[in-house]
Amino acid sequence: VRRLERFADVRRERRGTTALVPTMGFLHEGHLSLVEAAAAAADTVVVSLFVNPLQFDDPADLDRYPRDPERDAALAGDAGATILFSPPPDEVYPAPPAVRVIPGPPGDGMEGSRRPGHFAGVATVVAKLFAGLQPDRAHFGRKDAQQLVVVSRLAADLSFPVEVVGGPTVREQDGLALSSRNVFLPSADRTAALALSRGLMAAASAAEAGERSGAALEGLVAAEVAGGGILELEYAVLAGAADAARIARLDRPAFLAAAVRVGGLRLIDNVWLLPDGTADRGITLDRPSILYGGGP
Ligand code: PAF
Repeated sequence: VRRLERFADVRRERRGTTALVPTMGFLHEGHLSLVEAAAAAADTVVVSLFVNPLQFDDPADLDRYPRDPERDAALAGDAGATILFSPPPDEVYPAPPAVRVIPGPPGDGMEGSRRPGHFAGVATVVAKLFAGLQPDRAHFGRKDAQQLVVVSRLAADLSFPVEVVGGPTVREQDGLALSSRNVFLPSADRTAALALSRGLMAAASAAEAGERSGAALEGLVAAEVAGGGILELEYAVLAGAADAARIARLDRPAFLAAAVRVGGLRLIDNVWLLPDGTADRGITLDRPSILYGGGP
């Protein structure tokens, strides 16, 4: 894998069609499944690695965000990346950006209302990656459901000639959705945190069995989360896949998303649902994640 730090170098080096996998590093199997999908679909696969300060609403979260660029380069290369783009901050932000991308309603609820400015930060950096790297496709995880909607609308509404592609949430053996921040979860909190995925799986099963009421599906998540008494539910929302707006019935493609607090951490997770009750729960690993020391 070539390691490049300048937008212009990537534009010069790439050959044929280009797929981009934007990341903030500390890669896990969720990222790697996106890289594999990108490699199957394009000649040049660029994995970007940039911890974007503009999208952190909490400075402590930015400071402690886990980083391991050497390991990321090895993992990305093994998964099929041809270029690892890890720009220094001044390449992405030569000056504090006066012009920013404000995502509008898709970025307002759920994560947007709990993390002020977060989606403007995401949309601004993704627009810069699209403009600077000029990929044909870009792969994002469905784990960050609202982000995927925001980025899809960004590409469509601002006419970026980029196809935005969603990839499955990858889960640990016990159901916990992979996130780089999981390495900070103490084991007692981790056990409690499993109520989040359990609640979502119960809701997915209910949808498959015919439940279409948003309140009922959201309530299944809330009940499971409340049961353990340790997690604090921030929200459980059934939202349309096209615009991330809350819906009362599962009558269009949608996702059921939830956020909890445990200890000092926030965890988010979701399942994607179709009006016929089909549920996409993501995929589950059959071994411990490389987040805990496996891999190179
Ligand atoms: O999902 C992430 O890791 C980030 O939000 C992204 C898309 C790389 C933008 O910084």
